[in-house]
Amino acid sequence: MGNMNRQWRLTKRPVGEDFDDCLVFGEEPIGTPGDDEILVKNLHISLDPANRVWMNEGDSYKAAIPLGGVMEAFCVSIVAESKSPDFIVGDVLYGFGHWEDYTVTDGAGWEPAPDIGAAPFSAHLGVFSVVGPTAYVGLLDVCDPQPGETVVVTTAAGAVGSLVGQIAKIKGCRVVGITGSDEKCTWMTQELGYDAAINYKTESVFKALLKHCPDGIDCHFEQVGDAKVLDAVLTQLNQYGRISLCGWISGYNATAPIAGPSGLANLVMKRGKMQGFIVLDFPERIAQSHTDMRQWIEDGKLKYRVDVVDDLSGAVEALHTLYAGTNKGKLIVKVQDDPLLG
Ligand SMILES: NC(=O)c1ccc[n+]([C@@H]2O[C@H](COP(=O)([O-])OP(=O)(O)OC[C@H]3O[C@@H](n4cnc5c(N)ncnc54)[C@H](OP(=O)(O)O)[C@@H]3O)[C@@H](O)[C@H]2O)c1
Repeated sequence: MGNMNRQWRLTKRPVGEDFDDCLVFGEEPIGTPGDDEILVKNLHISLDPANRVWMNEGDSYKAAIPLGGVMEAFCVSIVAESKSPDFIVGDVLYGFGHWEDYTVTDGAGWEPAPDIGAAPFSAHLGVFSVVGPTAYVGLLDVCDPQPGETVVVTTAAGAVGSLVGQIAKIKGCRVVGITGSDEKCTWMTQELGYDAAINYKTESVFKALLKHCPDGIDCHFEQVGDAKVLDAVLTQLNQYGRISLCGWISGYNATAPIAGPSGLANLVMKRGKMQGFIVLDFPERIAQSHTDMRQWIEDGKLKYRVDVVDDLSGAVEALHTLYAGTNKGKLIVKVQDDPLLG
């Protein structure tokens, strides 16, 4: 291992999507673990829409990244040095780490990566680490879909959304996905088994939902926060319908409050439920989600695609693709390989 640690630091708070000048790429010597600490070598880091939210000051589910601090991310990493009785060199870990080659940590928030069977290494972030458990608990625990029910998903070809739609199909539901391109619509219906796909950029979502959800909507998985789409869903929600609020990507770069839906009264009339969630709140469900997803992948029932950026220096440019809709699957930065993994 060389002596230097490449890293991205947040030097000012961005306005809107203008974050390129706020993140500065540099390097400094690799840290040395003290007593009870480890040095992890970051192999893959996850680029997530919420990364932009973490750059803001304000009320969130996690503290804002401090100015001058290294940009944060979910990582899959390998223990390179250990002065901790809890970790040994070569352990592959999931954790809340940083956009850098190496991180010194006391191990809090880091845990052993699960057995992913024969899946390639990119499946750690592509499915198992965050996006799969998010899809799993956000659909199954928040919406509790029943066989024969109709499930609608926004951002339905994305990393989380594509898994939500397929899990709903595995549970015997009719699944309608909403996304932003014809290519994604075709992938969803021809490869993932969606019953119908709607391109919100070229079609009336309200009319298309009427057509594709003839029995109304029982469950809705929301990731965008577009008032028009949410209103179209709310007006077609069935009695005791459930809406899982997973994300609000249309607002992550907003510089002013964005409009909300006007049809919330229908939740009263239909005795509906709308619940936000964060995957971190379901630690007791993660192991089961890993077991089920590994089995579904092995059975050919769960497909995923990954969009891998080959160098840490490209992380900022790549982050924009999530807001442009041009990412083709789970967006991952491959930081480096490790000889221990072959
Ligand atoms: N609650 C949790 O614990 C949790 C955990 C992980 C992720 N999330 C949330 O889940 C959502 C999806 O994350 P992901 O990692 O799977 O990303 P992703 O869906 O793979 O990528 C983001 C997608 O969002 C869509 N999009 C971007 N800007 C948009 C806009 N202004 N209006 C409408 N659509 C827009 C684009 O797809 P289209 O082509 O379809 O527009 C884009 O490809 C995000 O909101 C994220 O914050 C929540």
